[in-house]
Amino acid sequence: MNVGIERDIAETLIGTEELQAKVTELGRQISEDYRGRNPLLICLLRGAVVFLSDLIRATDIPLEMDFMAISSYGDSTESSGVVRLMMDLKSNITGRDVLIVEDIVDTGHTLAYILDNLRTRRPADIKVCVLLSKPSRREAPVEVDYLGFEIPDKFVVGYGLDYAENYRNLPFIGVLKPELYK
Ligand code: IMP
Ligand code: MG
Repeated sequence: MNVGIERDIAETLIGTEELQAKVTELGRQISEDYRGRNPLLICLLRGAVVFLSDLIRATDIPLEMDFMAISSYGDSTESSGVVRLMMDLKSNITGRDVLIVEDIVDTGHTLAYILDNLRTRRPADIKVCVLLSKPSRREAPVEVDYLGFEIPDKFVVGYGLDYAENYRNLPFIGVLKPELYK
């Protein structure tokens, strides 16, 4: 019998090996595209931490990283559409090649807000790398430059993604049993 957090998962959507293969591919692509440019990777806390930590180890270029925290959700599984900046960057991004690293784009409000906010600081370039996208849920248009996987409209957890701050430590992307949040 499974006594760990996996027992709350209805279905594995993306397994560990598939995740690692995709992250390796994204890291290689980013290394090629940013060769000689020393980009600043901006990780959106807290969901993108696991993705970022694997992604940077799949690159071989000089790069820096910084962190930003945004809040839109509370403990619900539905975006409120209201985005707040909870923690700002340490770095000055003016003139920098910025790559935003995010776990998932759902309605798009979070990324739209971040892009607007960061553009006012006049970076040289700004691009977006997202592990997961739910295209059917989009309300705000956002251009994603590097995408891991498109997924259906299901609430997923694991590999950094949470439900009420739990399940981030699952090593795969899974669908939470709906009875746990309904
Ligand atoms: P958006 O602003 O609606 O695009 O939502 C983006 C944020 O909502 C992400 O950074 C996640 O924190 C959260 N989110 C959206 N869908 C899911 C999901 O299926 N599982 C966990 N978090 C999610
Ligand atoms: Mg998030």
